[in-house]
Amino acid sequence: MLARCFVASLVAPVVSAANAIPVSRELAGQSLVSSNAGNPPCAALEAAGLRDRLLVPTDAAYEPQINTWWAANTRLRPWCLVLPQTVDEVSLILKTLSNAGEGAGDWHIAIRSGSHSTTGGNNIVNGVAIDLSHMNSTEYDEASSLARVYTGARWESVYSHLAGVNRSVVGGRDGTVGVGGFLLGGGYSFYSPKLGFGCDSVVNYEVVLGNGTIVQANESAHSDLYRALKGGHSNFGLVTRFDMATIPARNLWYELRYLANNYSSVVADVAADFANHDESLGDNALVTWVSFNSTISPVTTASTIYVNVEGNPHVETSYDAIRRLPSLLSESVSLPLTQAAAASGSGEGTWSTGSSGTYKNNPAILRNTIRVHEDLARNLTSAIGVDSFSTFFFMQPLPSYMGSIGKQRGGNVLGLDSLRDNAIIWTAGVSVSSNEADFALARALLQEASAQIQAFAASEDGVVDFIYLNYAGAEQDPLGSYGAEQVEFMRDVAARYDPAGVFQRRVPGGFKISRVV
Ligand SMILES: Cc1cc2nc3c(=O)[nH]c(=O)nc-3n(C[C@H](O)[C@H](O)[C@H](O)COP(=O)(O)OP(=O)(O)OC[C@H]3O[C@@H](n4cnc5c(N)ncnc54)[C@H](O)[C@@H]3O)c2cc1C
Ligand SMILES: *[C@@H]1O[C@H](CO)[C@@H](O)[C@H](O)[C@H]1NC(C)=O
Ligand SMILES: *[C@@H]1O[C@H](CO)[C@@H](O)[C@H](O)[C@H]1NC(C)=O
Ligand SMILES: *[C@@H]1O[C@H](CO)[C@@H](O)[C@H](O)[C@H]1NC(C)=O
Ligand SMILES: *[C@@H]1O[C@H](CO)[C@@H](O)[C@H](O)[C@H]1NC(C)=O
Ligand SMILES: *[C@@H]1O[C@H](CO)[C@@H](O)[C@H](O)[C@H]1NC(C)=O
Ligand SMILES: *[C@@H]1O[C@H](CO)[C@@H](O)[C@H](O)[C@H]1NC(C)=O
Ligand SMILES: *[C@@H]1O[C@H](CO)[C@@H](O)[C@H](O)[C@H]1NC(C)=O
Repeated sequence: MLARCFVASLVAPVVSAANAIPVSRELAGQSLVSSNAGNPPCAALEAAGLRDRLLVPTDAAYEPQINTWWAANTRLRPWCLVLPQTVDEVSLILKTLSNAGEGAGDWHIAIRSGSHSTTGGNNIVNGVAIDLSHMNSTEYDEASSLARVYTGARWESVYSHLAGVNRSVVGGRDGTVGVGGFLLGGGYSFYSPKLGFGCDSVVNYEVVLGNGTIVQANESAHSDLYRALKGGHSNFGLVTRFDMATIPARNLWYELRYLANNYSSVVADVAADFANHDESLGDNALVTWVSFNSTISPVTTASTIYVNVEGNPHVETSYDAIRRLPSLLSESVSLPLTQAAAASGSGEGTWSTGSSGTYKNNPAILRNTIRVHEDLARNLTSAIGVDSFSTFFFMQPLPSYMGSIGKQRGGNVLGLDSLRDNAIIWTAGVSVSSNEADFALARALLQEASAQIQAFAASEDGVVDFIYLNYAGAEQDPLGSYGAEQVEFMRDVAARYDPAGVFQRRVPGGFKISRVV
């Protein structure tokens, strides 16, 4: 059995799954005119017949629904939430909101799937949040062996549904992460060294355009939109459904280890060796990280998750060096992906922020990163107190062959075709449990740490021009990092499918192609 407390999240600390609260129906049919007076978008949605799908602040279910957003800093209170259940309702919502004009000058729209992003895109104060969490089913089509995965589903439920027919997909590692945001930003999975990013497994997108038109985007229809959606985020339309190629469900061989921090540099060296594996070892995945959380340990720890996706414990890899070290905690199990995802949760309800960079696979850069993490943990301790925060610095392989996997599977916009060197994606997560003022200090310290890591990598000629969108901080420019050619392509596609700029101006959150310089 996998003890829950042993399991680390893949971006921040450990908690249980969020249970979305269903929309209260008691108020259905009652007039909202009073609470929506002076509130054109919510009044327009009600007038369009969507009262059943709305939650306004006076509804009993409103506040509990806000608390299903993952990070405290995204638990904003919009004028209303609208929770569609079908693609036709999404279409009606977008048409209605477009025709409600620009409001009295200042209201906008946010889109939420699993709500795990922390960059401010998934909620809004002045306006409407389209909460897709009720569009959360998964269907399996035996004839095509495709999974139809709805955007509001969480990966644990996707795996659990598909396990019933012995199939699986390339998706998230933590069970509560949402489908929509994960796949629109790429999607790094235990299967990525073998099958690429999650988006590389999507064969068709069902998309609602800014004017409410529903289109299917795939290799033969709207193929430009199809490619742009593979990494291009929320710039072209609202995706309601992802049709994904499936793979056989097999138990994973899964090893988790926590090590004393005097082994951090060994862990860094193993991460670097692992990122040099060639594609023939693609069944093997490694996540390494250093972290600090005073509840878990008074000093920083170094940790690893090693997975063999074929369930084989006997493959020789660079990870063997870690097996020989004494560990503080360790677990080695064969288990289904559903169970691994269910046990891996994270710091839900904390103020959370992140940052990311990609560096050439150079152990000196990794060791420096670990040194900066020690400084960050120490500085956070003196700034906000040892019990108020937790930190994670992840180091994950980005082998140079990842670009060619994407290309073989229909092409994406991540711009990795030209990646010549094996690389490591560095990802930081900082969670603050005390208050918003401490969070502001923590953000500033993380930016300082990020700048130091970048500067050291630059001094080693080790900066790779790729910022992984799903891990990027709000101030970073992941779309721009895909390269000029991809940026121009995404701009063209956005102009073609969203000529009115709904997803640039009315849905301002997330990373926007119009803001790339
Ligand atoms: C605990 C934790 C673990 C994680 N593990 C991994 C991991 O293993 N691998 C990995 O690659 N990433 C991981 N991430 C990062 C994760 O991929 C991103 O946070 C991603 O944005 C989450 O998707 P979501 O649907 O939950 O988020 P949301 O916040 O709901 O959405 C993210 C963004 O996409 C937009 N969006 C969402 N759905 C749609 C849609 N249908 N149409 C248009 N726009 C939409 C939103 O407006 C928002 O800007 C992890 C994050 C956390 C917090
Ligand atoms: C879908 O969401 C509803 C409402 O939050 C929830 O009750 C249900 O369990 C979810 N279904 C799945 C498959 O996760
Ligand atoms: C799933 O596959 C395994 C082995 O491949 C097999 O033993 C099992 O019977 C299958 N289960 C179902 C529900 O098809
Ligand atoms: C691609 O889209 C077209 C047009 O809607 C549709 O007929 C076809 O079935 C789609 N292909 C896939 C693989 O979904
Ligand atoms: C590392 O620390 C652990 C526990 O604190 C200790 O047992 C071990 O001997 C140390 N190893 C080295 C190489 O310093
Ligand atoms: C530290 O870890 C504990 C135990 O997993 C968790 O409850 C707590 O939220 C974490 N602290 C922070 C600030 O994330
Ligand atoms: C931590 O604080 C020290 C002393 O003020 C400073 O030199 C260092 O740059 C800081 N590092 C980080 C990562 O904040
Ligand atoms: C909606 O926008 C698309 C893309 O610009 C366009 O092809 C389509 O005709 C528009 N539909 C309507 C009803 O205006």
